[in-house]
Amino acid sequence: MKGSLKRIGILTGGGDCPGLNAVIRSIAKPAMTYFGATVIGVMDGFEGLVEGRMRELAPKDIGGIVNLGGTILGTSNKGNPFQYPVETPKGIEVLDYSRQAIQNYRDWGLDALIAIGGDGTMHIVDRFTELGLNLVGVPKTIDNDLSSTDVTFGYDSAVYVATEAIDRLHTTASAHHRVMVVEVMGRYAGWIALGSGVAGGADAILIPEIPFKWEKVYEHVLLRSKQGNKFSIICVAEGAKPADGGLVVKETDKKRTDPVRLGGIAELVGRKISESTGLETREVVLGHVLRGGSPTPYDRILATKYGSMALQLVSEKKFGYMVSLRGTEVSAVPVKEAIMQLRTVPLDSQLIMSARAVGTCFGD
Ligand code: F6P
Repeated sequence: MKGSLKRIGILTGGGDCPGLNAVIRSIAKPAMTYFGATVIGVMDGFEGLVEGRMRELAPKDIGGIVNLGGTILGTSNKGNPFQYPVETPKGIEVLDYSRQAIQNYRDWGLDALIAIGGDGTMHIVDRFTELGLNLVGVPKTIDNDLSSTDVTFGYDSAVYVATEAIDRLHTTASAHHRVMVVEVMGRYAGWIALGSGVAGGADAILIPEIPFKWEKVYEHVLLRSKQGNKFSIICVAEGAKPADGGLVVKETDKKRTDPVRLGGIAELVGRKISESTGLETREVVLGHVLRGGSPTPYDRILATKYGSMALQLVSEKKFGYMVSLRGTEVSAVPVKEAIMQLRTVPLDSQLIMSARAVGTCFGD
C-alpha cells in the first residue's frame, strides 16, 4: 500500500459499543507505522462526513485505547447522509445530503474510508460504494444482528454485563421471594437475552423470535413457586412481544436511522405477572449499561483482528466489503450480502434447545 493509499478515513456510526477503540487502534497504528499513511478521524459518524468535521489522528490519539469503551471519534445514529434530518421553519425535514458528504470525502483527499458500524451503517457503506467511493465496513453492535458474520464485536461485552446483572438479581430475588424481570437491549433480535439468560440461569427467556403466551409465563412462575422455588428470574429482550400484542415502543424519532426506540416490555411483563399470579415482581431495565465500559478480552481480540483485516482490504483495494468472522477466521464478504437480512436467532438454535433441556421457559 505504501505510496498508493495515502489518506485513510475512519468513522464509527450508530450506537456505540465496547471495542470500537480497539478497532480504530488496529487500523490506525499499522496504517501510520508500516504504510506511512495519514489517518483522518471523521467525528460523530456520518454526521461528521456531511458536516466536514474531521481531524488528522496523531499516534498519541491511538495509544492506550484498546481497553477503552465508547469511541474516541464520537458517534451518532442520526446522521444518514441519504436521509439527513434538518431543522427547518416547517419542522424537521429529511433530505438527501449525500452529495455534500461525497464533496467532503474528496475535499479531505480521502483514498478510502473505513466505517465501523451496524446494520444502518452498512446500508450507507453500500450506497456510497455504488456511488464510487472507496468504503470498507467493520461489523459492530451489541445486538449481534448482522448477517454474514458469526458475531459482531460488542456482543460478548454486553452479554458479560447482562450476565453479571442477572447473577446479582438472583440473590436479591431469592432473599425477597420475588419475580425479577430484567430487560436487555437487542432491537429486533434476541441474541443478548438468549446469551445472558442462559449464562445467568434465567428461569424464563423471552425473545422477539418466539412470541410468548402470557399463560405460559404465569404457569411457569407459579409452578416454580409451588415447587418451593420462591423466586424467578425472567430475562426479556426489549423486542420481545406477546403472541396477542405488538412491540413495546418507547418513542419514535424521525431523526434516527431507525426511528423506533424500543423499551418498556419489562414493566408490562412485571405488571401482568403480578396482577395475574399475585406474586411480587420487580423490573430492571439494563439499557445502555450494556454498551458502556471496557470491552471483554474476547471483544478486544476480535476488534483487533477486524481492524487489521479492514486495513488489509483497503490495501488490496477491495472496496464494498465488510470484514466477517467465520469460525475462528476473519475474512471479508460483500457488504450487499451482509445487509440482505437481519440476523435473528434461528428457532432451531442449539442454544434454545439446550436452554429448554434445563427447563427454561420461552413462553411458547
Ligand atoms: O443497536 C444498539 C442499541 O443499543 C439497541 O440494542 C437499542 O435498541 C438501541 O441501540 C438504543 O439506541 P439509543 O442509544 O439511541 O437509545
